[in-house]
Amino acid sequence: MPLPSDATLEPKRIKRWLACRLLDWFARWQRDLPWRKDRDAYRIWVSEVMLQQTQVATVIPYFERFLAAFPTLAGLAAATEQQVLRLWEGLGYYRRARDLHRAAKVIVATHGATFPREPESLRGVPGMGRYTANAVLSQAFEKRLPILEANSVRVLCRLFGKADDPTRNPLRNWLWQAAEEILPHKHVGHFNQAMMELGALVCTPAAPACGKCPLRGKCVARARGLQATIPLRAAPAKATEVRESAVVVRRGGRLLLVQRPTTGRWASMWEFPHDELTDGETHTQAALRLLRERTSLSVTLGPEIETIRHGVTRFRITMVCFVAVFRQGKFRSEFYADSRWVLPAELASYPVSAPQRILARTLASNDE
Ligand code: ADE
Repeated sequence: MPLPSDATLEPKRIKRWLACRLLDWFARWQRDLPWRKDRDAYRIWVSEVMLQQTQVATVIPYFERFLAAFPTLAGLAAATEQQVLRLWEGLGYYRRARDLHRAAKVIVATHGATFPREPESLRGVPGMGRYTANAVLSQAFEKRLPILEANSVRVLCRLFGKADDPTRNPLRNWLWQAAEEILPHKHVGHFNQAMMELGALVCTPAAPACGKCPLRGKCVARARGLQATIPLRAAPAKATEVRESAVVVRRGGRLLLVQRPTTGRWASMWEFPHDELTDGETHTQAALRLLRERTSLSVTLGPEIETIRHGVTRFRITMVCFVAVFRQGKFRSEFYADSRWVLPAELASYPVSAPQRILARTLASNDE
């Protein structure tokens, strides 16, 4: 029987039906993903952190490389932050990588080389929010713990016809409670993944494939034709144009590479000195100013060599890159943490931001 259009649906009352429909669907349609090959908690944890704010297709090659370099929790804890950042380079949101690495050290120091099985043991571990802890423990150890992330939130809001803002209370709390109430007693790991997988493959933000949905018989949004308005979405943030200058300072065959501060954007990663233009400044003026203020070196500024356009979150960055020749002076900076004169062939081993990598590749290939 289809649901009458004014009926309310209660999470507890459809628990058995939901688990049956969802687990059958997942068994048939789940994607073959590298972190689904076994139930190793460490591998699942890495995948869950990488998948935050990042598409599955983007994550796969990063996951494979990361696990090849650090196959175990102890291996990750023993790595340097620079190695971890280099393998994360291009995935963005680098805070995740630094937290993952710090968390591995904390876990190994307090629990040894095995991933803890109890949620209490993960409390306070860097970057380990409720979602991440529950996702790992439910998938690796069948702990009955609920998860909530963008895909499963969409499924729950539509299924139960919740039209309010899911990022705010009271709906936020209602969703956590609902996610807990619908958990089956068996196959929790698959159930949680199935909620997310359904959101990713069927119950998509635009044009959901309701005809293929195992939950269509009870879906309130579908019965009321509200799939397009549920869940409520915040208006997309307006794109912001950012204009930057970067300078490659040459000294003999070497190039000046500087390390960013330990906090803030791209923390501890390396770059060719760069900065945003201030009001009214030209790219050339910004290049001269940032060298003076952030390196103290005396240089002769040369021509522009490349303009790099790059989008990250809502920022549209245009970075104009110059070359310069070192004249004299000693590197001093209140901003940058460190500096090195490197050979173009050495650039590949330093973690840098995505636009800076484009520039580094240009320089390395010009040098070949
Ligand atoms: N998104 C984040 N983790 C996931 C998982 N394990 N399965 C499907 N989608 C996900």
